Amino acid sequence: MDRNRGILIAGNWKMNHGARATSDFAAAAKSGWGSLSDRARKALAVTAGPGKLDALVFPPFLSLETARREFTGIPVAVGAQNVHFEEKGAFTGEISGAMLKEIGVGTTLVGHSERRQYFGETDASAKKRAESHLNQGFTVVLCYGETRAEREASRTEAVLERQLRDGLPAEWNERLVLAYEPVWAIGTGLTATPEQAEDAHAFSRAFLVKKYGADNAAKTKILYGGSVTPENVRGLLAKPNVDGGLVGGASLKAESFLALVEGAGSFL
Ligand code: 13P
Repeated sequence: MDRNRGILIAGNWKMNHGARATSDFAAAAKSGWGSLSDRARKALAVTAGPGKLDALVFPPFLSLETARREFTGIPVAVGAQNVHFEEKGAFTGEISGAMLKEIGVGTTLVGHSERRQYFGETDASAKKRAESHLNQGFTVVLCYGETRAEREASRTEAVLERQLRDGLPAEWNERLVLAYEPVWAIGTGLTATPEQAEDAHAFSRAFLVKKYGADNAAKTKILYGGSVTPENVRGLLAKPNVDGGLVGGASLKAESFLALVEGAGSFL
């Protein structure tokens, strides 16, 4: 199988884990790290290119510094869940890319369905953030996906097409990562089947080919998110267009996060 894109396991902690819980997570992850297989550890140690396994978590803002400080010694990168598109200014309550860079945060999450549902994020604002963050040097994980009503009305592809058309940055960037997260699968235990995920990912990749060209499309990771667990991660990753997972609930405990990383490692 073509694993030239490598695999990314990303944990989205959402509004969970303050500094203390983050510290506990880091301690548990460090003590469990030794139990990872050589294969997984080797893949984590690859620095770039094919066969590379990346592990990342998105803690809440107040836990970012703790995560950065306490993950030293284990290769778990840290990303931010919500970052403004402007670089500074009068935007009460917002956080800028520069502030995050200062503490070593290198990845941002954009367009998550919870941001769309509760905080007014749209395809257009997701695009604006993605373009700004990419320009500022971040890796950007851009989320999209249909609701249950849209799937039941056989509108999945039309919705994905619109989200990609209106949400993707104008220019391709090697730091752009997509995350297909069907809304009906998020936090419900109703994981998409590997076939449903693969269909959506293949459709998305075909869109990337049209927009950015075949070479760039082939290099772009597409993660799947929505009730991913250590039990189902291998089945999903076995599909050729599934390049990793964006995981909520199952990323909150270090043991479970490590089990996801181990599952991914078995493909590299
Ligand atoms: P769950 O894994 O808890 O379903 O959450 C998925 C998600 O929204 C990740 O961004």
